[in-house]
Amino acid sequence: MTETSERSTQDIVEVLTAQHHQVDELFSRLLGAEGSGRARMFAQLLHVLALHESAEHVVVHPEARKVIDGGDAVITALMSEEVAIRDALVESEHVSVQARDFAGRLARIRDMVVEHNRHEEVDEFPLLNQRLDDSERRRLSRAVEELGKLAASGTEAEFEHADIAAGSPNLMVGPFAAIFDRARRLIAESSEDRP
Ligand SMILES: [Fe+2]
Ligand SMILES: [Fe+2]
Repeated sequence: MTETSERSTQDIVEVLTAQHHQVDELFSRLLGAEGSGRARMFAQLLHVLALHESAEHVVVHPEARKVIDGGDAVITALMSEEVAIRDALVESEHVSVQARDFAGRLARIRDMVVEHNRHEEVDEFPLLNQRLDDSERRRLSRAVEELGKLAASGTEAEFEHADIAAGSPNLMVGPFAAIFDRARRLIAESSEDRP
């Protein structure tokens, strides 16, 4: 197995943009899918989304707020959108992937995510490219990678009762909220340690 650290030399904007494409693709595949595969695909989508949005929320946006002149309003709006996406997913936890309105709900969330990604790509990423040099963008990428490992490290225990194969949706949405909140806790704890 090759070292995954090669990834950490990537540029944060490229990493996040690639993840946006991955999320688009997962939504498209899931919306076009039928039958038993949907539960697993939904779980995968939630996992990818949770890690991505958590990393932006606790690492990237706070950094962007510091370096983008007058960026407060833009960053606050992006972070609100992330909370709204998280809440929409949590709200849908009583809906089964087999339910008739699942596709409608999922499409609504997909629209929120697509719009949010577009805002980041237009209002934030170009400014990160302008304001941060290559090494700073790689440093952020490494921070996101580390956070992803930490945020995901508790998932096995936290989700041990998740019955993904059986399509138990409330237990599949759990991972999103848990990763998101875990990432926020980790960052809050590390901030408290600072003098
Ligand atoms: Fe985001
Ligand atoms: Fe994003």
